[in-house]
Amino acid sequence: MHDKSPSGCITPIYSAGNLGPAAETVRAGGLVIFPTETVYGLGASALVDNAVAGIFVAKGRPQDNPLILHLYSTARLGEAVSSVPRSAEVLFEAFSPGPLTIVLPKASQVSSFVTAGLPTVGIRFPSHPVAREFLELCDLPVAAPSANISGRPSPTSLEMALSGLDGKVDCAVDGGFCQHGIESTIVRCTDDEVVLLRPGAITVEMIAGCLAEALLDIRVRAVGAEPSAAAVAGSHAVAAGSAVAARSERPGGPEARASGPEAPGMSYRHYQPRAEVLVTERIDGARARTRFHGRRFGVIAMNRPPVGIGQATPVYVMNSAEEYAHLLYRKLIWFDDQGCDVIIAELPPPEGVGSAVRDRLVRAAGGQAL
Ligand code: TXA
Ligand code: MG
Repeated sequence: MHDKSPSGCITPIYSAGNLGPAAETVRAGGLVIFPTETVYGLGASALVDNAVAGIFVAKGRPQDNPLILHLYSTARLGEAVSSVPRSAEVLFEAFSPGPLTIVLPKASQVSSFVTAGLPTVGIRFPSHPVAREFLELCDLPVAAPSANISGRPSPTSLEMALSGLDGKVDCAVDGGFCQHGIESTIVRCTDDEVVLLRPGAITVEMIAGCLAEALLDIRVRAVGAEPSAAAVAGSHAVAAGSAVAARSERPGGPEARASGPEAPGMSYRHYQPRAEVLVTERIDGARARTRFHGRRFGVIAMNRPPVGIGQATPVYVMNSAEEYAHLLYRKLIWFDDQGCDVIIAELPPPEGVGSAVRDRLVRAAGGQAL
């Protein structure tokens, strides 16, 4: 007997302590929504090509956007990758289980359905206790993207995931609200360098610090700095990897774009609510009121409510970059639900997880600044 589904949903829901049927569903080639500490994932057995193909259909995901493999234990890493450079060993040791994905050369048995034909595969060990219970019971690598319809904000609660995927999956696992709220940091590791492909809660400063502590003289660089960063008017430091520690570099400068072979998938439309999103370093409330006169707009502010915005405007104030990350996707959807057709989002400072929040916001805005 499964737990009760949210009202109106037909998807069977399972919770901690009762995950056997959800794991069996994966083992039998089904699709299962499950929680992680970052965002909810849409999981399938990486050993069943048809199941992996089903992920792309359910999400409407472009075929050339590779999936991440989720594993329970590093003891099984050898089944998924053909080699593990020292840098990856050190980073897995320091940050796994946790919100870090490492891209490594794939083992021959990993299906090209998972990797979209690439010779590499992204590996992650989630730390969410419910994800761990689920993955241990699955006892195989689970391929999973974020559990959203392609292009939409990633779900940070089961309700959000089901709002797009109810009826398109076989069952779901409930694990409450996700702790971090944005997707894992992705790095590609080789013997000579660590390349940041997507910023996240494990920051580039943490990665560089960890490699230095292990006495590894390895270059750390970032691709996929905020797209169209130049569009953020008056921006003082907008590159995702702007605070990269010593021995690191950012070829292409702040306007460097995530490009095909470096970071597949990062160039697609991403994280977008129905409302148009505009980013700014600091909002001038009175000017925004004049510009959007007659339109319903909402504001995500950093640290304090904007001055002169007017009583009727929905405003949500984030008090830290961590809170911003945790609530970002939920709030974007909340402004949609408030009937807003424009969301103006103040960017957090480009430090720590703030860099990752900026990256997601600029993508949600399609590079459009206020
Ligand atoms: O936190 C997360 O990583 C979540 C949870 C569910 O684990 N997953 C997630 O998956 O965000 P997804 O599919 O939404 O984003 C995965 C991205 C791809 O778009 C691609 O940019 C990158 O990971 N990726 C996967 N495999 C890769 C590879 N072999 N080389 C380079 N990038 C890769
Ligand atoms: Mg995604």
